[in-house]
Formats: sequence, structure tokens, C-alpha cells
Amino acid sequence: VTGGNRGIGLATARRLVAAGHSVCITARREADARAALDAIDNPRATWVQLDLASLSATRRCAEELAARGDRFDVVLHNAGVLLAPKTRRMTEDGLEQTLQVNAVAPLLLTQRLRPVLDRPARLVWTGSSLHAPGSRGGAEVDFRFDDIHMDAHYHYERAYKNSKLAQIWVSTEIERRFGAEGLHSDVVCPGFVPTTAAAHLSGFRRFALAHILSHMPFATSLEEAATRIADACLTPRDAPGGRYFHGGALSTPSDDARDPEQAARFYALATKLVDEA
Ligand SMILES: NC(=O)c1ccc[n+]([C@@H]2O[C@H](COP(=O)([O-])OP(=O)(O)OC[C@H]3O[C@@H](n4cnc5c(N)ncnc54)[C@H](OP(=O)(O)O)[C@@H]3O)[C@@H](O)[C@H]2O)c1
Repeated sequence: VTGGNRGIGLATARRLVAAGHSVCITARREADARAALDAIDNPRATWVQLDLASLSATRRCAEELAARGDRFDVVLHNAGVLLAPKTRRMTEDGLEQTLQVNAVAPLLLTQRLRPVLDRPARLVWTGSSLHAPGSRGGAEVDFRFDDIHMDAHYHYERAYKNSKLAQIWVSTEIERRFGAEGLHSDVVCPGFVPTTAAAHLSGFRRFALAHILSHMPFATSLEEAATRIADACLTPRDAPGGRYFHGGALSTPSDDARDPEQAARFYALATKLVDEA
């Protein structure tokens, strides 16, 4: 479970451990991992360091997991930049940060983990309905293959939406390429969980998310979100993937998200970026 040190990742990891599974969470900082493991309070939970904003750190994480000799039947790609920076930030690898953390580096992690994934195995991505046109926010999704780092049209909300669209493309293309060998991939939008976003804010915005929006009918509780994600992780492993779930039910992502040509194009581009970085 990437990003298992807090939020939806931690709540899902707790559920999976409680259901009897051994779970390795990732965290950027050891202290956060230790606090999460204390909260889970079960010897079946372990941790490994992962910073998706660094491709070399992502490779190191995969190497460490492979060196442990464990095998994995599910990878929950949950870690993500939830609130992108207002001013565009590039990573040490020269990629726009939100795209790298939410889509490109998780693809690299998947590629590097393939030798230690069981067959059948399942990838689950914590996706977002914000990938679709017309979703709430101050900027529309607008993925331009000729400007993937958003030199010309960066907006922090667009960066998030674009990255979540790219995530669906990666998931779809993994299913197309590797589904026949038993590696399946699904995307799950858990719903809008204001309480985790509140932790990134201060003042009235924090209060509003934590105590007002969280009680609105369109909000999803952390526990409900974790149940949805955990259910997807516990899908029979040989069930075909390439699916998108929203609000706890099988759903249909946007037209762009369902376009196999764009999915293949992004996968190839992301693979090239990783190889060249
Ligand atoms: N909350 C919502 O309404 C909502 C809705 C739909 C989808 N989602 C998705 O759900 C996932 C989890 O979000 P959340 O709501 O639980 O938010 P969160 O509490 O902020 O959790 C995000 C997790 O990702 C980790 N992370 C961030 N940047 C990272 C990096 N560079 N490398 C490795 N890990 C990194 C964070 O680690 P640190 O603790 O070190 O920052 C944290 O563990 C995200 O993918 C988000 O896009 C959330």
C-alpha cells in the first residue's frame, strides 16, 4: 500500500491487515511509518521507504522489496499529491511533480516489481472522478501530449486532474499488455473524502473541510473510502481488470480515459521518460 502512513492508505491498510493479510506500507519518512505501524498494531504490517518524486528512490524501493524475498499479490497505488502546489514544481528528474508522483513513478514501480508479483496479481489505483471534464474545481482537465509538463497551462487543479487521467491510462494499458499473463489493474475513485484534504490546510479552509463539508451528503467518510478500496484489493485475483469504480460501484470513466490510443501513447511516453531520466 503506497502512501500507507496516513489518510485513505492507512485506513485501507488497517482493513487489509484486519482481514488477515500481510501488508507492507510505504512512507516517505521513517517516523511517519513507525507511527502508522503503531496505529495498525499488528506484526503482519511492515514498511518500506518510497518517495515517488524521485525515480532513483522509486527504483531503490522496488529493489529493497525484491531483496526481501517476499511475493506480492496486490499493489495498491494509493500515494499521491492530493493538493498540487500553486506554482509548478519540477522534480529532480525534470518532470512535473504531480504527474510524476501520481502516474509516472507508480508505473516505474510496477515495472520494477513485476518479477516479485504473483500470478494472478492485482494493481489497484486510488483514482479520482476529477479526471473527467466538468468536474468541480477552478480549471478543466486538459492533457496535452505536446506539453505534458504544462509549460503553457499549469494550474494546480489541472495538474491533479491530468495526473488522475494519466493514471487511468496506465492502468488500462497495463491490463491490455499483461492481463493475459494474470496481471490485472483497476482504478477506484473512493469518493470525496474532505477529512484527508483538511490535513493539508489551515485556518477556515481546514475547519470547513473537516467539520462542514465532511457532513455534506456528497462527502465520503474515511472508513467508507477505505472499505471501497479494500474491496477492490480483495477482488478475486483472476477476475479481469481494466475497470473503473466510483462511489462503490462499477462505473465508466471519461471518453478520454477510455481511449485506448491515448492510453498506449501515455504508457509509451512515461516509459521513455523514466528510461531517459
Ligand atoms: N481525499 C479525497 O477526497 C480523494 C478523492 C479521490 C482520490 N483520492 C486519492 O487518494 C489517495 C490518497 O489520498 P488521501 O486523501 O488519503 O490524502 P493524504 O492523506 O494526503 O495521503 C496521501 C499519501 O500519499 C503520500 N505521498 C504524497 N507524496 C508522495 C511522494 N512524493 N512519494 C510517496 N508518497 C507520497 C503521502 O505521504 P506523506 O504523508 O509523506 O505526505 C500520503 O501517505 C491519493 O492518490 C488521492 O489522489 C483522494
